Amino acid sequence: MNNVQPLSGSRYSLKKLFWLLLPVALSVPLAVHSSSSNNDGNEDDLETHFTDLRTLVEMPERARQILIEDMLDHLAVLNEINRYLSENKLSSAAEVAETGMGQSLLSKYQDEALRPGHYMPQEMREIGWELHNAATGFAKAARQGNLQETLIAYHRISSACVACHYSYRTR
Ligand code: HEC
Repeated sequence: MNNVQPLSGSRYSLKKLFWLLLPVALSVPLAVHSSSSNNDGNEDDLETHFTDLRTLVEMPERARQILIEDMLDHLAVLNEINRYLSENKLSSAAEVAETGMGQSLLSKYQDEALRPGHYMPQEMREIGWELHNAATGFAKAARQGNLQETLIAYHRISSACVACHYSYRTR
């Protein structure tokens, strides 16, 4: 269907991306400064390396590996969602979002000490919850066949990815 085109390939232009990311980019200084005392402070050259502005969140190596595995899974789920959206299969997109973005996370099955969330500052955890809530909202809208609401919820999902990545690092 033509109305899902904007999500696919080159038609999802850089200009559009810029406007999508702008609100998040504007909120980054707040997120970083509010917890900047956690930074390790080794970097002298903060202005020239944007990534160094992210707050370092330390966790045991095993917990970090689990986080990365969850992340790769998120990426794959997002990719599946894109595919179903491009094929206008909203109920399949709903299914993938509901089961993939939250419930099937590897970290859920670990001891408390190995769960990445255990080491996250409160604001970071809240972004994680926002991701799961957005995914639930996405599934609901997609099941109702409401494309407009589905795409709005999709943007809410990707905004959570961006918000967390722009604010935190683990190494
Ligand atoms: C609550 C915070 C948070 C959210 C939400 C989040 N991530 Fe991440 N993600 C991280 C952190 C922290 C890292 C590790 C960054 C580092 O230190 O290298 C990471 C790393 C990644 C990586 C790199 C994995 C690697 O091979 O190193 C991918 C891919 C990724 N995330 C995808 C996603 C996607 C897609 C979403 C949204 C659907 C998402 N993430 C949502 C925190 C988050």
